[in-house]
Amino acid sequence: MLSWAQSQPAPDRVVDPGAGSARFLVGAGRRFPDARLVAVESDPLAALAARANLAVSGMAGRSRVQVENFLDTRLARLAGRTLFVGNPPYVRHHLIPPARKRWLKDEAAALGVRASALAGLHAYFFLAIAKLSRPGDYGALITSAEWLDVNYGRLVRDLFVGQLGGRSVLVVEPRAEPFPGTAATGAISTFKVGTSPKKAYFASVAQVSAIGELGTGSEIARSRLVREARWSDFTRTLPKPPEGFVELGEICRVHRGQVTGANKVWIAGPHSAGLPRRVLFPAITKARELFDCGPTLSDDRHLRRVIDLPPDLAGLEETELESVRKFLGRAEKMGAKHGYVARHRRSWWSVGLRSPAPILATYMARRPPAFVLNRASARHLNVAHGLYPRERLSDDMLIRLVKWLRRSVTLHGGRVYAGGLTKFEPGEMERIRVPTPPNLLGDQE
Ligand SMILES: C[S@@+](CC[C@H](N)C(=O)[O-])C[C@H]1O[C@@H](n2cnc3c(N)ncnc32)[C@H](O)[C@@H]1O
Repeated sequence: MLSWAQSQPAPDRVVDPGAGSARFLVGAGRRFPDARLVAVESDPLAALAARANLAVSGMAGRSRVQVENFLDTRLARLAGRTLFVGNPPYVRHHLIPPARKRWLKDEAAALGVRASALAGLHAYFFLAIAKLSRPGDYGALITSAEWLDVNYGRLVRDLFVGQLGGRSVLVVEPRAEPFPGTAATGAISTFKVGTSPKKAYFASVAQVSAIGELGTGSEIARSRLVREARWSDFTRTLPKPPEGFVELGEICRVHRGQVTGANKVWIAGPHSAGLPRRVLFPAITKARELFDCGPTLSDDRHLRRVIDLPPDLAGLEETELESVRKFLGRAEKMGAKHGYVARHRRSWWSVGLRSPAPILATYMARRPPAFVLNRASARHLNVAHGLYPRERLSDDMLIRLVKWLRRSVTLHGGRVYAGGLTKFEPGEMERIRVPTPPNLLGDQE
């Protein structure tokens, strides 16, 4: 980050937001011998360490340690340029007091961007930097990568394409331990305030040693950044698959399972006794059911049943209708009619399960996805994805594909969230490289 800063015109001042022991600032002080150094740190003990560090590095005379909340920091007026560099704190929104959340909303509105009350503290730091900075200032920050994709990250994304003049994002995969012991993904972003670059550079690395120059990678047009709400995919523009491989998406569509909106209502139980069998569908309702069954799901007797009524009940027999009406009365009492999902269905009572997918896969856990051949023709809820071949695949080919996927897919294709949860969105699963069908036939293992 400091090397990138060195490739820019030298700063007259360096500000380290959430400076801790000021290791960034001391590094900056060595590289920029004429710059004033400002550490902002709310913890007095850390601030003491910062002072000591700056003093023994011979930088006391040109540095200032401000013990305060960075969100309230004011900087002295300066004619030259300021570099913001550091590692702002990561604090979840639950721990941020309501008054500060109001601050975020108001200050964001003042800059013409929207903020969510669910934002983590790093988003607040981006906003504070946008407020403090002037055209000509620039920066490099390492934060959690969450803001690239989640809803609340929109604030940071808007600032990046707007006021901050974002230049590049480098995602640092958890294997590189950007934040040791947290299994979180890091993102190093660089920006030059007051510029509106037509494109920004996106890349990702799995090892610290692979971090080269910041500001390189795939070029993504600003218009795409404005349009798209999920940016981590940009860091993974993979080279073309090697000879003999294709993306899984060329062979199969991947669809997330259905959301019921209220599993306690729509998964059959005592409350649904009496419903005709033909509206009850054995389904994968827990990821565990796929982890536990090995490569093939051949039996559905142990699976729970999901109630899927037709949108138009007129097609049911008179005898069936009676039990269905009774059930719907109970479902209404359980609040099923007014839930968000139910209100957005054509008929609130019709869950609308997808057809059975020939291959099922888990997509979120602390372990690689489990791919399973669905011989039982089970349906699936949104705990699983279904793989639907674009063209009919023979049984032999399906088996080979499942075997290959089980053997080869690791966690690295998906995004790893804080806490080690890995998630393969359908689009990410479709990008897994698999052997072409003829090569699958030659797969011996
Ligand atoms: C992730 S640490 C980074 C420390 C240092 N920059 C480094 O990389 O070693 C974040 C620091 O921010 C400080 N901090 C947390 N909230 C703050 C706030 N609102 N204002 C200023 N500093 C804060 C913490 O005390 C902590 O020292």
